[in-house]
Amino acid sequence: MRKNLFLFIALFSLLTFSCGQKAADSNKDLKMIVSGAEWFDTDSNRINAHGAGILYHDGIYYWYGEYKGDSTYWNPKVPSWECYRTEAGGVSCYSSKDLVNWKFEGVVLESNLTDTLSELHPSNVLERPKVLYNDKTKQFVMWLHVDSHDYAKAAAGVAVSDTPTGSFSYLGSMRPNDAMSRDMTLFKDDDGRAYHVYSSEENKTLYISLLTDDYLKPTGNFTRNFIDQSREAPAVFKRKGKYYILSSGCTAWDPNQAEVAVADSMMGAWTVKGNPCTGKDAEITFYGQSTHVFPVAGKEDAYIAMFDKWNKTDLINSRYIWLPVAFDENGDIEIAWNEQWNPDQVFK
Ligand code: DGJ
Repeated sequence: MRKNLFLFIALFSLLTFSCGQKAADSNKDLKMIVSGAEWFDTDSNRINAHGAGILYHDGIYYWYGEYKGDSTYWNPKVPSWECYRTEAGGVSCYSSKDLVNWKFEGVVLESNLTDTLSELHPSNVLERPKVLYNDKTKQFVMWLHVDSHDYAKAAAGVAVSDTPTGSFSYLGSMRPNDAMSRDMTLFKDDDGRAYHVYSSEENKTLYISLLTDDYLKPTGNFTRNFIDQSREAPAVFKRKGKYYILSSGCTAWDPNQAEVAVADSMMGAWTVKGNPCTGKDAEITFYGQSTHVFPVAGKEDAYIAMFDKWNKTDLINSRYIWLPVAFDENGDIEIAWNEQWNPDQVFK
C-alpha cells in the first residue's frame, strides 16, 4: 500500500515538474492542496483557521481553527520569550466535500469584544479548537486552549452547539484533572468514548484524559505520558486497532522535529517511533507543526496530516501544510514532503 502511494506521488511530482510547471503560490484554480501556499476559500478570501481540527459529519468536512486578528505583536508584558500574539478572534469554520474547496461558514465561537473580563475577550489566547459530535446528546462539542495574554492561565475551554456551523455557546474553562492544559486535541474512539489530550505540567508532560459520556468534563481517569519530554501540538488517530500520537517539540512558534508514538490502548503505554517526516526539511517538520490527523471518509488507509507553518511576526499569514500519511507493513508511518497533490488522485 505504502509502496503504491509513494510510487504514485513520485510519478505525479515528476509529471508535474517535467511539464515545466513550478510549485504554485496558492491553491487558487488548481484543485490541489498546495503545501505552505496561500489557501483561499470559495469567496477568494484567505482561509483563517489555524491550529485546526477537522470534523467529518454527514458527508461534509468541517475545518475549525483559530480566527487570528490581523496585527501581530510581541506581548510587551512578556519580554522573556518570543510571545508573539494576535487578538483572539474566536473560532472559524469552513466546510468542504472534496477537501480542496472550502466555504467559509463564519466565526462559530465568537470572541467577546465588550467584556474585558471574559475569557473570550480578544486580549486573551484562544488556540487549537477541536470539535467532536456526541451521538448520545446530539451535540457538537468544542474544546480549545483558553489562556491569558501571557499563557499563565493554562486552561481548557468547552463550548457546545446543536449544529456543526454554530453558533457555539461557551460553557467556561477549567484546569482538567487539576493540571495545566495548553496545546490540546480531542480524539473520539470507535466505541464512542472521547479523550482530551493536552500538554500539562508547564508543557513537560502530555496528559490523556477520558471525558464523561457527554464529552463536557474529564472523568478523572487520566494518564501522564512522555513525562518531561516536552511534547506539544498533539494529533491523535487510530488505524487497524493501533493508536498514534503525532506531536512536536516545544519551541514557541519556531519549527522543530516531529515525533510519532504508537500504543495498543489510548491510555498508553506509548512506544516512541521517532520522526515520521521525510524529504526536504523533514528534520524541522517542513517548517510546520502538527495540529491534526484525520481519515479520509470512504477510503482505505487514507489519512491526512495537517500542520501549521507559523509566521510568528505575522501570525494571520501563517500557512497550512497538509500531507498524506503512508503506512508500512508493520504499521509504521511516513509523512513525505509533497509540494502539491490532490486527495482524489492520491487516495484511490
Ligand atoms: C506553540 C504552540 O504549539 C502554539 O499553539 C502556540 O501556543 C505557541 N507555542 C505560542 O508560542
